[in-house]
Amino acid sequence: MTLQFPAEESFAAVRARRTHSIKWQRYPADVLPAWVADMDFPPPKEALEAGITLLDRGDTGYPSPDLVMNYQLSYQDWAKNNFGTQPNSLATVADVVAALRIIIMAVTDPRAGVIVLTPSYPPFFRVVNDAERELVPVPMQRINRRYTIDFDLVARVAAKEHVQAIILCNPQNPTGRVFTRNELTMIAEIAERERLIVISDEIHQDLRAPGTVHIPYSSLDHESSSRAVVLASPSKSFNIAGLKVAHIELPSDTELRSRIEGSPLLALSQATSIGLSVGTQAYRTEGDWLAEVRTIIDENFNLVIKGLGDQDGITITEREGTYLLWGELLRRPSGQSAYEFLLNRARVAVGPGEDYLPGAPEFFRLNLAAWPSVVETMIERIHDALAAL
Ligand SMILES: Cc1ncc(COP(=O)(O)O)c(C=O)c1O
Repeated sequence: MTLQFPAEESFAAVRARRTHSIKWQRYPADVLPAWVADMDFPPPKEALEAGITLLDRGDTGYPSPDLVMNYQLSYQDWAKNNFGTQPNSLATVADVVAALRIIIMAVTDPRAGVIVLTPSYPPFFRVVNDAERELVPVPMQRINRRYTIDFDLVARVAAKEHVQAIILCNPQNPTGRVFTRNELTMIAEIAERERLIVISDEIHQDLRAPGTVHIPYSSLDHESSSRAVVLASPSKSFNIAGLKVAHIELPSDTELRSRIEGSPLLALSQATSIGLSVGTQAYRTEGDWLAEVRTIIDENFNLVIKGLGDQDGITITEREGTYLLWGELLRRPSGQSAYEFLLNRARVAVGPGEDYLPGAPEFFRLNLAAWPSVVETMIERIHDALAAL
């Protein structure tokens, strides 16, 4: 099956089409939205058609067991073909953030410490706090524009009595790191020593830079991986976040598994039938759509690296995965965060650094899952705003 990727759309055309999208509707019409993590590309046509069929028939009730089973089978094939893995049984859920909350509540004790590597996707902070666990932030180290895990620090923190879990994000949002087998094994060793549960959010697993390999945590040949819980979803890979479908790869450790399966919250956070249908079909596409998307994203990163950089006072983090660029804006009017400056002077809406790394207003996150002409306009605007300083 060959997928027809649509011709490039203008900024105005995307805006006119996306009248129900928070990404496009939060800011005034002249602002280029590069903040929340969804893509400007329409999802694969065949996948959408699966949802349209349900709507046409009015078959919009609660999902049947067969629908759930088909989703699971299509993901298992996807995992086998793309990562060479055979995920354990899956539990489908509405979204990854809901799943995180379910897992934290089910597998950790009240007030247990949960490690989050920073900078981090902000809902990790919120989910841990809302679950009334102790958020234990562990900063990553930035060495030559690349972030690495400070394993000594993780080990020291993990040794504390009350620390019971670590949330990993791989590929990492916002730094774009894709962790190596060696790095994951070092985490697994700490987890084994300290009886830590690893919760690995792999929602960005399909979005990798050329030459980068994603290693699913569940594929580690390590004793502690039986106590790991992996989360994934077609929502980032195929741009269907609004359809509400994701899954938990249940751990093989039977006690942990039954705690998750028995969670009353699981029943309250079910995937939708449209999400399951579209997700099932998306995982059955042969990758042409995704390959084209990856190429556009890679080109966009190259455009930004060519167009902006040290000469402008911008440090761009090396990226291995995701479509998110983590940057540092050193030159800006005093008292203004990078977010404020880019919004007010360049009319580009980015993710504010402080959301990901409290106390770091110089950072910003730029979403590059956009058409190249839009990215070129972003670059020009940022360039001009900096030149006018
Ligand atoms: C790392 C990560 N996890 C989870 C999510 C949200 O996923 P969901 O919409 O399934 O909750 C995002 C969205 O940006 C993300 O980047």
